[in-house]
Amino acid sequence: MTNNAKTISPSTAPIKGTVNVPGDKSISHRSIMFGALSKGDTHVTNFLMADDCLSTIDCFRKMGISIDVTPELITVHGKGLRGLTVPSDTLYTGNSGTTTRLISGILAAQDFNVRLTGDASIEKRPMKRIMTPLSMMGADIKSERENGCAPLLINGTKLHGIDYVSPVASAQVKSSILLAGLYAEGTTSVTEPALSRNHTELMLRGFGADVSSEGLCATIQPADELHACDVSVPSDISSAAYFIAAALLVPGSELMIKNVGINPTRAGIIEVVKNMGGRISLENVRTSGGEETADLLVRYSRDVLKGTTISGDIIPTLIDEIPVIAVLAALADGQTVIKDAAELHVKECDRIDAVSTNMKKLGVDITPTEDGMIINGSEHISGGVIESCNDHRIAMSFAIAALAADSDITIINPECVSISWPGFFGMFEELRR
Ligand code: S3P
Repeated sequence: MTNNAKTISPSTAPIKGTVNVPGDKSISHRSIMFGALSKGDTHVTNFLMADDCLSTIDCFRKMGISIDVTPELITVHGKGLRGLTVPSDTLYTGNSGTTTRLISGILAAQDFNVRLTGDASIEKRPMKRIMTPLSMMGADIKSERENGCAPLLINGTKLHGIDYVSPVASAQVKSSILLAGLYAEGTTSVTEPALSRNHTELMLRGFGADVSSEGLCATIQPADELHACDVSVPSDISSAAYFIAAALLVPGSELMIKNVGINPTRAGIIEVVKNMGGRISLENVRTSGGEETADLLVRYSRDVLKGTTISGDIIPTLIDEIPVIAVLAALADGQTVIKDAAELHVKECDRIDAVSTNMKKLGVDITPTEDGMIINGSEHISGGVIESCNDHRIAMSFAIAALAADSDITIINPECVSISWPGFFGMFEELRR
């Protein structure tokens, strides 16, 4: 086997104890962006030190923002809404869709021009979804290869507000438009087909912006200035999801995951686990900085897990958790149907394809559909070799599958976990001991 492979054996011991998983990726990105655009110092604790968020830090440093990084604390020395300076080179966003799309909304309104791109995955992901509304606001934004993807050429200019009805429930699209709206003349609103994560709305309010939300519509007024605001990042429910699944699947497990963000626009996996019969409870529920958090207590439940249907408005609240939910479904009793999730085709990889191709290699009865998948659960997953497709969530989901498999699973190119969780395999090995 090459060095770019990791072999994981089935579990031999229950997963027990109390753990902290890393900080929320979405909130970490936004803490840097909004801190940079504010006057004064923003202090961020429990920031996610992972490749995606480091890409955001790098982009803002290249635009003249000084950011101090220590393991305990990030300090963003914000220079205000008009404080960014022209980068000397292309801004590189790595693998991060959030960085690419949110920063585009900000760049559209600057008084300088920028070329923006990321890695091979980013250069394939759809950017028309932001180019269209930003252009409607007056932005000068082009796809260099005229294929609707990055590299993007963004010439900063004056913007005006729009009322945009978005065809997709995407927080990245919504946030890009709202950030452009901070600089636009007049009011900007975005209406979504279903509510996507609302961290931008909650956090921008904390930084002093005039943002309101009503149902599926978020509205922002142009701002003269934002003001620094300290951010305490909750742990990421999208990362907790892997250990929720591990504890549900491994006999005898009982795991407490501390201080997890359970914002209702993110917490769909909890409802799904409950619907599947999983033993999960929320303790110590509290609110900090507008974000709800809780300690999650998860107990072994494979003996009672049953299939379910996941569709409609809940999809955006668990979109990143679908690969690991598919692992639960493969080991549950009966059929699980996932639909209305066509967005999975345009994530870090085509996750409908990646999940179903890899699951088939492990003998799972799975049928990919246009907007999801149908999985007939069974008592067994075989061992085998799977490909991460350089997608962190695929690598981590199949590491969890290995715990409940009949024999070893080898993951090719597992190092991509560093996109959201560089220490994943370390914690994984510690917990399964
Ligand atoms: C994110 C929004 C989601 C999610 C991504 C992070 C964000 O993407 O999948 O991992 O931080 O706004 P979409 O907005 O494209 O659905």
